Amino acid sequence: MKKTIISIALAVTALITFQACKKEAATAGARVPSLPEENYRYDLMPSGGNTQFNPLGANTTINNDAATLGRVLFYETQLSINNRISCGTCHQQSKAFADGKKFSAGFEEAITKRNAPAILNPGTQNSYFWDMRESNLDLMVTRPIANHIEMGLESQEYMTTKIANLPYYTDLFTKAFGTSEVTAERIGQALGTFVKAMVTAQSKYDEGVGSGFANFTDQELTGKQLFTTTLPCAGCHGGENFTGWGTHVENIGLDRDYTDNGMPGTDWNTGRELDGWFKVPSLRNVSLTGPYMHDGRFNTLEEVVEFYNSGIQSHDQLAFALREGWNGGGGVFGGEGGTGDVQPLRMNLTTYEKGALVAFLKTLSDESILFDPKYSDPFVTK
Ligand code: HEC
Ligand code: HEC
Repeated sequence: MKKTIISIALAVTALITFQACKKEAATAGARVPSLPEENYRYDLMPSGGNTQFNPLGANTTINNDAATLGRVLFYETQLSINNRISCGTCHQQSKAFADGKKFSAGFEEAITKRNAPAILNPGTQNSYFWDMRESNLDLMVTRPIANHIEMGLESQEYMTTKIANLPYYTDLFTKAFGTSEVTAERIGQALGTFVKAMVTAQSKYDEGVGSGFANFTDQELTGKQLFTTTLPCAGCHGGENFTGWGTHVENIGLDRDYTDNGMPGTDWNTGRELDGWFKVPSLRNVSLTGPYMHDGRFNTLEEVVEFYNSGIQSHDQLAFALREGWNGGGGVFGGEGGTGDVQPLRMNLTTYEKGALVAFLKTLSDESILFDPKYSDPFVTK
């Protein structure tokens, strides 16, 4: 009998101690943002030396208070249903805002259907996602929050209530929008502003623009020549963002039968269902953002170059630029023609040329964004 009382007493004490610890741990372990006294300047462009390129995009202006709020929201795990996932989980600064994985795990360890792309210079683009399904960045940025795989907060009311209940947002919303009211629209605007401010233009390539690429090695120069003139690459990955036109999708012949059909729709000429058309991604920071393609099928740039050199598949919607007979002029767009017996381009590059292409692609990376504090996770555990 006595023994039982003692063990109950012990159990109760243990329980009380345990509860007390748990409570303390909850307050002691709180994640709160630690922000600089004065805002970082998100409106200033990096001076990489490339005067021909505005990485913000022509019509974008940045409000520093909104971008500061957006930075906190970008790393806010409370925006997920289990308080563990933030935008920064899949768009990591140390990986140039990609995540280094073929596919990414969301809040329930369910896996995204596509490879997480790097976020870079989004203000210069006007369509987002691999299938270009979204054109409004401020709306687009709240989609992952509601997405049933990514962050799982399906109710907008629940989202705004959760954010409004966190004391540090009162001040941040007031500074950004004049009042502390939390709305889904404001969350979208702030996240959109921060994301637009994720600019990158300080690569070896940018430094070389002013000097006619005097800073390039012979191999990088050969790669540049191949990329821009000899081969069709720049026909699609063109311009100073290496992303071609703002809205450009292509079938590059990754597969004869695509498991992921890409952009939905029908061909304007033939009326056939589109198949295998994906967004032409920017190649900036590409050496930092593997694995590659919409499904992360290639781990290295060498594998990508070998694909273009010898692995393009026959597909009746294959881009003309990647068909045999491409002569360097016009006809980049695919999908309009073809009878199903399409001859894919074989580039027959030498080992040196393949290495040169990779060397050139590496000059497009700007490592400064990996360390820039204005894009870093502001949360500390108190
Ligand atoms: C679980 C991983 C995951 C999380 C969390 C996540 N994303 Fe993404 N993100 C992706 C994937 C995967 C894609 C590509 C989806 C597609 O193309 O269908 C993507 C695409 C994007 C793009 C489009 C980039 C482009 O150039 O087309 C932006 C911008 C973006 N995410 C921003 C965000 C923001 C802001 C958040 C937080 C609210 C967020 N993401 C949370 C995985 C994630
Ligand atoms: C007809 C247009 C077109 C041409 C020409 C083209 N590309 Fe691409 N490129 C694309 C598209 C579209 C994708 C994405 C395809 C996908 O994921 O299904 C892509 C993807 C890539 C990627 C992976 C990027 C990432 O972040 O996953 C690299 C690297 C690349 N291309 C390099 C090149 C090089 C080098 C050349 C020249 C040898 C070239 N491309 C020619 C349209 C093109």
